[in-house]
Amino acid sequence: MEILTYPDPRLKKTAKNITLFDQELHQLLDEMTDTMYHSGGIGLAAPQLGHDQRVFIIDLSSENSETKKVCEFINPKISSKEGRIVFEEGCLSFPSITCAIRRFKKIKVEYQDRYGNLHRLSAEGLFSVAIQHENDHLDGILFVDRLPFYKRYFAKKKALKKVTRL
Ligand code: CO
Repeated sequence: MEILTYPDPRLKKTAKNITLFDQELHQLLDEMTDTMYHSGGIGLAAPQLGHDQRVFIIDLSSENSETKKVCEFINPKISSKEGRIVFEEGCLSFPSITCAIRRFKKIKVEYQDRYGNLHRLSAEGLFSVAIQHENDHLDGILFVDRLPFYKRYFAKKKALKKVTRL
């Protein structure tokens, strides 16, 4: 599946809640996983594939690890946020740019799995950053939107240059 890149307007939409935990959802999740591994990313949200649904996946295990474990988040809600962390982030929708983004260090998130079962987890460090980055995609918020104004201006300009050069 093709990953949408900035400035595709579909990346700015607010995604809808999943109500059916059916075969169609499972197929979307499997295709997202294949696409993420194929692209070498550690996270991918459904809106990046043009699906306006509240679904994202994360896998922080290293590329060569045999214990690849993808975490699937459906209808996630971040319920508690504390501390601050700055991390150099990338995004599959912004090929070849990275930006230092300030986020919460520790979060709690409630979400459903592919069968609709409710879960809750605490995350910190990179896992916390990845969840916040992917969760933003569900609200049409891109990582560059978290930058101060002047940095955002240059990051978007740089991203557009990369796009037009392709
Ligand atoms: Co992203």
